[in-house]
Amino acid sequence: MPPTALRTVALRLLTCVLMTLPLAGCAQEQETPDTTQSAAEIQSPEIESADSTVEADVPFVVTPQTTVDSILALAKVSSDDVVYDLGSGDGRIPITAAEEYGARGVGIEIKPELVQRARENAKISGVSDKVEFRQQDIFEADFSEATVVTMYLFPEVNIQLRPMLFEQLEPGTRVVSHSFDMDEWVPDTTIRVNGDVLYLWTIPEETPEFVDTE
Ligand SMILES: C[S@@+](CC[C@H](N)C(=O)[O-])C[C@H]1O[C@@H](n2cnc3c(N)ncnc32)[C@H](O)[C@@H]1O
Repeated sequence: MPPTALRTVALRLLTCVLMTLPLAGCAQEQETPDTTQSAAEIQSPEIESADSTVEADVPFVVTPQTTVDSILALAKVSSDDVVYDLGSGDGRIPITAAEEYGARGVGIEIKPELVQRARENAKISGVSDKVEFRQQDIFEADFSEATVVTMYLFPEVNIQLRPMLFEQLEPGTRVVSHSFDMDEWVPDTTIRVNGDVLYLWTIPEETPEFVDTE
């Protein structure tokens, strides 16, 4: 295997371990029991073993509910916001944004079974009228109406997504990433909550030189 391919494999393994340290292990795509569920009563039973064959860039690993609350507080979400979660898993971020802040929420998720689960969770939480889940690849998604974007993806996926964020989002839009940064794009704020690192950026008026929007 050429050295660059070896480095890529090693990086993916390392990030997978880092991302899933609090969890049972990323190979199984399981969740730790979350004892701090919101009033949303989000249902997150184990993902069926008959998982779809759709390829995802990142495994399904949930953000603990207390960290979800911190993400939304960090972005100062209000009822005026449209919150997009890129890779929305069981839907907990858009659902909590709608439930706790009265925001509109949209989840983009490639795995159909997770989209279905997120829709069921929205129904249970009574916010189906305020949230929407689209079965779509984030790299083909239009999220230009977002005023807040959240993500819990791998570092290289964040970097791949970065030009799209600058192309699509209006200046002033807040972007929050769980665990992974955006390389040269220096965050406005970095906080640590419950062992998780959260990064907040604001889309600037002028696109920085390091962003390749070609
Ligand atoms: C680490 S999980 C985060 C789930 C949720 N955002 C949370 O914080 O609890 C990443 C999610 O992104 C989804 N995903 C991975 N690649 C994707 C892609 N290219 N397009 C859409 N969703 C994707 C995975 O299926 C998974 O549900």
